Amino acid sequence: MPHRTHQKAELVVYNTSQVLTCAGGLPKRGATAGELKPIERGAVAVAEGKILAVGPEDHVLKRITDETVMVNAHGGILLPGLIDSHTHPVYGGDRSGEFLLRLGGAGYEELQAKGLGIQTTVNGTRSMSLEQLLNSARKRLRRMMAEGVTTFEAKSGYGLDLESELKLLRAIKQLNEEGTSKLELVPTFMGAHLVPKEYADRRGEYLDLVCEEMLPQVAQEGLAEFCDVFCDVGAFTVEESRRVLTAAKSLGLGLKLHADELACTGGTELGVELGARSVDHLPYVSEAGIAALGKSDTAAVLLPATTFFLFKDRYAPGRALVDAGAIVALATDHNPGSSHTQSILRAVELGVMRCGLTAAEAIVAVTANAAYAIGREATLGSIETGKQADLTILDVATPEELIYAWGVNHITGIVKHGELVTI
Ligand code: NIG
Ligand code: FE
Repeated sequence: MPHRTHQKAELVVYNTSQVLTCAGGLPKRGATAGELKPIERGAVAVAEGKILAVGPEDHVLKRITDETVMVNAHGGILLPGLIDSHTHPVYGGDRSGEFLLRLGGAGYEELQAKGLGIQTTVNGTRSMSLEQLLNSARKRLRRMMAEGVTTFEAKSGYGLDLESELKLLRAIKQLNEEGTSKLELVPTFMGAHLVPKEYADRRGEYLDLVCEEMLPQVAQEGLAEFCDVFCDVGAFTVEESRRVLTAAKSLGLGLKLHADELACTGGTELGVELGARSVDHLPYVSEAGIAALGKSDTAAVLLPATTFFLFKDRYAPGRALVDAGAIVALATDHNPGSSHTQSILRAVELGVMRCGLTAAEAIVAVTANAAYAIGREATLGSIETGKQADLTILDVATPEELIYAWGVNHITGIVKHGELVTI
């Protein structure tokens, strides 16, 4: 058995300005909220899909052989593979017309109340085959990977009947199993995204369907790791959300909530009370909610691209959340209605320029803390020996430059499971 230091690298990333390892314990909060643990002019060696060595370049280069794939970072920074911890990537239909209505002054909540919004996408999704859904989702996810993302959380929630919700979760499962594409998705069931139109006068019956038929079937088939609920005005109340999440918890699913996005309804406090892994959105989180997150292990996933795309000016209080000691992550919320961007870097920029995070905290928010938000902190989110070899290379020399040169795709390469991905 050769000593570990003799193990040879299959791939090495070298010629960096720095490797931002994000090591030192996950998740990061309080004094460690912006902890990047950089290695100046570092390099990373990879073997069998895992990180073999990380350290100063001259040390790591001792691992190379004639067969080692050498990846030149050209003086850029090397990060743990970025993680988009909140997306809705599988859907059909077209909401561009509604976007034009919003540009003309119509409100998002107003369209939703008229039976448009999420319901439009539900109509479009129900009529699509699994194959059609897969084809459109693959294109989106590839574009999101080209912005540096190596792992996605992916929600159902545009089916809203048993068969259609299962179709979406099976699509997510299939995307995950397509080894060649290098896609990795963490599935979330979101049957409680909206009460669909056929149940408009029978909300209780829809909740029965979600809790008594959909959730047990999803759990039995192992189709989801998390259950999410849209807890907000125009969607589900705190008590309705409690019912769904309690049922999900009893089936062993982790919990997530869309909380305090459109109004302060107390979804954050509910999430903390139930031990949710994350509460997401939060522009309207209360002072009590901020304090509760500071003391809990529930992550706050901020989605500033949504606030931007809805033409609103009340962003989630990222600075206050970090200062209160909360675990803060950032994600795109990619979906066809309220956040149509496919760029995690836009979420990072807005996290800094609108939510008050530092550049270092924003990087933690899409690596270490995003891994925590999807329950993958043991294998993803930092560059440490033995962790999965997911890496993102950017053509900037410092985190601050990434924000300063905003609106640009700085990604020059990604490594997924130890292999260089063509993007
Ligand atoms: O995360 N907030 C709720 N759900 C989505 C929007 C869905 C849609 O408009 O299609 C969100 O913002
Ligand atoms: Fe969402």
